[in-house]
Amino acid sequence: MSDKVYIFDTTLRDGEQSPGATMNLREKLRLARQLERMGVDIIEAGFPAASHGDFESVAEIAQSVKNCRVAGLCRSVKGDIDAAWGAIKNAEAPRIHTFIATSDIHMKYKLGKSRDQVLEMTRESVSYAASLCSDVEFSAEDASRSEPEFLARVVQAAIEAGAKTINIPDTVGYAQPQEYGELIRYLIDNVSNSHKAIFSVHCHNDLGLGVANTLAAIKAGARQAEVTLSGIGERAGNAAMEEVIMALNVRKDYYGLETRIDTTQIYPSCRLLSMIIGQPIPPYKAITGANAFAHESGIHQDGMLKNRQTYEIMTPDSIGKSSSDIVIGKHSGRHALKSKLDELGYKLTEEQLSQVFEAVKSLADKKKQVFIEDVEAVVLEEVYRIPDKFKLKYLSSMSGNMAIPTAALKMEVRGEEKQLSDFGVGPIDAVFNTIDRLVERKPRLLRYSVNAITGGTDAQGEVTVKLEENSITSVGRASDPDIIVASAKAYINALNRIAKKESDSEDKISSSDSGTP
Ligand code: KIV
Ligand code: ZN
Repeated sequence: MSDKVYIFDTTLRDGEQSPGATMNLREKLRLARQLERMGVDIIEAGFPAASHGDFESVAEIAQSVKNCRVAGLCRSVKGDIDAAWGAIKNAEAPRIHTFIATSDIHMKYKLGKSRDQVLEMTRESVSYAASLCSDVEFSAEDASRSEPEFLARVVQAAIEAGAKTINIPDTVGYAQPQEYGELIRYLIDNVSNSHKAIFSVHCHNDLGLGVANTLAAIKAGARQAEVTLSGIGERAGNAAMEEVIMALNVRKDYYGLETRIDTTQIYPSCRLLSMIIGQPIPPYKAITGANAFAHESGIHQDGMLKNRQTYEIMTPDSIGKSSSDIVIGKHSGRHALKSKLDELGYKLTEEQLSQVFEAVKSLADKKKQVFIEDVEAVVLEEVYRIPDKFKLKYLSSMSGNMAIPTAALKMEVRGEEKQLSDFGVGPIDAVFNTIDRLVERKPRLLRYSVNAITGGTDAQGEVTVKLEENSITSVGRASDPDIIVASAKAYINALNRIAKKESDSEDKISSSDSGTP
């Protein structure tokens, strides 16, 4: 059995199904390029049959990524398979990933199909996919709750029909590590053609066991792990890539396995995702959280000073979390900025570079030191934003213990300039009230948080806002050294995302078979 574990990243597909993690095309492309740079083997770029927007973004990613495979997900029906193939066929190395549910509960209630029908659909869909594409992956959805003997028959049929990778998902995060490892071993040992396929695992985190189950399955013989950055995904999320990779890495003595991942790209990748989706990495998050390498207690600090290995099983450098270096000052040139951006993997046009250069310069006027994180925040704001329906032009706010908090704003609302002022219980409330009136919307504020991007009182405030309107939720993010301005921009960003979702949902392709996994 090979000692190589393939890393299949589904941040752009299963991850994007996570509430509030919607990304626009440019953001997806940027993330895909970062995943490529990191060395993932397969990027699952999306579910092309879900909407025209999904189709287009998968097609763009397929064309722009060169050093890894690009997979498109599809149900086991011809129309879906055609859409997936249509979107990925120009990739350097395309993969069709087709799935059908195999648990009794899914077959009965979701698909309304018998075991024999599902077996037949597996044969038909995999052989049709294999007639289009030489690399086909088959997933037995809800495999961990499927009857093992039936699952083995489905897997056997999929391999016979041409599937080269067999994925055994724990779709609802129900499995326990030992039991799941045993299921993988059972399939490898009892499916007579199992040697012709790579077994893959895809674990959800409903019981907090996504990573543990993934590792147990790898120990039992699986050689592909389906993971997401920071573990984002449907419901409680998926197995976190950084945790799986670092477990295999730090405990090479136990697993004896290799991946192609450049671990120093872990932190930059998770940080990039966090900035794109506007959700901060929790401080206690394993591997990438702010506290992951912090030592608070005296005993620990003393041990660390004597020998770092007393309390540190990996170094911040090994995940690319070296202390941020100052990248630009007031007098730095455009060339220095360009080479820094190249180093970070951003490919900008001359026009975009000028836009970012101007924004970084004006930031350097307000802030003593501009760090990598600041520059990335500027790039995401200036270049990767969805086309804005609502734009902030001007903001002034007044507050204090002797004044009624007041905000005055000028905005561009669907191409038209408008201005207004209003009050609130505090300055942020006043700003949000004024924006609501200017754009004539009344969303519900579900979350509001402010983080300092770097240290110091002149640090940029990174504001995250979560809104809900007409059952559509959306997260907005923005940064600025002035947190009131950052709050206004984040709020407007969330409103733009709601507007984008509304127009995207109008072009959703209706589906009659089964829902998104
Ligand atoms: O969770 C799941 O079962 C999936 C499959 C489509 C792989 O996402
Ligand atoms: Zn999933």
